[in-house]
Amino acid sequence: MNEETWNRISCDYYSEILSPLKDCKHNPLIDDLKALKSSKLTVIDLGCGLGELIPFLVENFKAVTATDFSPEMIAQALERNAGSGADFLILDMDDMSGLKSTFDVAIAVNSILSSDLAKLNRIIREIFKILKPGGKLFAILPAMESYIYQNMLFVDRELEKDVSQEKVIMHASKKLDHKSYDPFHGLINFEGDIQKAFYRFEILYRFGKGGFSEFNIVRVPYRWSKWKEAGQMYYPREDPPWDWYFTCVKPK
Ligand SMILES: C[S@@+](CC[C@H](N)C(=O)[O-])C[C@H]1O[C@@H](n2cnc3c(N)ncnc32)[C@H](O)[C@@H]1O
Repeated sequence: MNEETWNRISCDYYSEILSPLKDCKHNPLIDDLKALKSSKLTVIDLGCGLGELIPFLVENFKAVTATDFSPEMIAQALERNAGSGADFLILDMDDMSGLKSTFDVAIAVNSILSSDLAKLNRIIREIFKILKPGGKLFAILPAMESYIYQNMLFVDRELEKDVSQEKVIMHASKKLDHKSYDPFHGLINFEGDIQKAFYRFEILYRFGKGGFSEFNIVRVPYRWSKWKEAGQMYYPREDPPWDWYFTCVKPK
């Protein structure tokens, strides 16, 4: 998805996007940031969107920089956080050479989404560069496994109705729009806008290749009720769909 798409989404963000900051049962990112809270640490929120995290970050850290490549997102984040003391910059993560300082903490909540895989690798290298040695990345990314999991739940329920596997697979393909998913590259086509989703192994590989170490990866589970509201599947007795939340460190 490019800047223009995000500019458009900014006008009606929460009706278009399920957010791990609002629609999850529990968000371990907030627990970790509370535990880290320090008046000595500098933080950058990469792809800050409407700036949902900014009040919390300003309250708990020494200095906060918020960036986004969408001018509309930055305009709204600024308006919502006027007088907060945070710095707001229109900046593509692809090239952050213009940043004046390096940071103790980088946060990226569902903002590393480039479907251009070479650009994706550059973004990871740029994030590595803007951290101080020993600095930490806290990121949430869409989980590719979660889509495959939802397909499995759907197929399994349909099979319980004694429908043939062939028909169930055809039904799943239409209902879950298989043609929009490229599982080999973890790419999803949302009505023409292609977005990256990540396998767990891929996070270890790509960010490890980018120089990061000491990975801790867990699920951020969404509320099933949010899936229902969005007109998607609803299997409240099962584990819910999730994003990946991970932390990793730039070695000293
Ligand atoms: C799903 S929204 C998340 C916003 C915010 N982090 C939150 O969780 O509320 C993704 C945001 O990342 C931004 N973004 C995507 N790719 C980017 C890039 N290459 N550089 C900077 N911002 C980017 C978009 O403009 C959008 O505001």
